[in-house]
Amino acid sequence: MSETLTWIVACRADAIDEEDVLRFDHGKATYAIYRTPSGYYATEGYCTHELALLAEGLVLDEVIECPLHQGRFHIPSGKALSPPVCVNLKTYPIRLENGNVLLGLPA
Ligand code: FES
Repeated sequence: MSETLTWIVACRADAIDEEDVLRFDHGKATYAIYRTPSGYYATEGYCTHELALLAEGLVLDEVIECPLHQGRFHIPSGKALSPPVCVNLKTYPIRLENGNVLLGLPA
């Protein structure tokens, strides 16, 4: 059974440069919205190691490097790639519509 999603405008598509990331807050949650050479993606906004904002990290191709201890994650899958991170990031669907980046959250 597919999950019902609510689509929320996170930002303008042109507000993110390629190989960059933006913070997006909604309700009590923080998300990270990425633009990579292969497209737009979203993950939870904080590193799974400690409380570091991924939007302050460095995007290299499809990888985000955490600003605090340089742990790395694969952005499209959220997979933890290098120590000290070992817990994957949650990922969220993204849709582009009328020049906006929409984030799909469970309804
Ligand atoms: S807080 Fe991200 S690697 Fe430590």
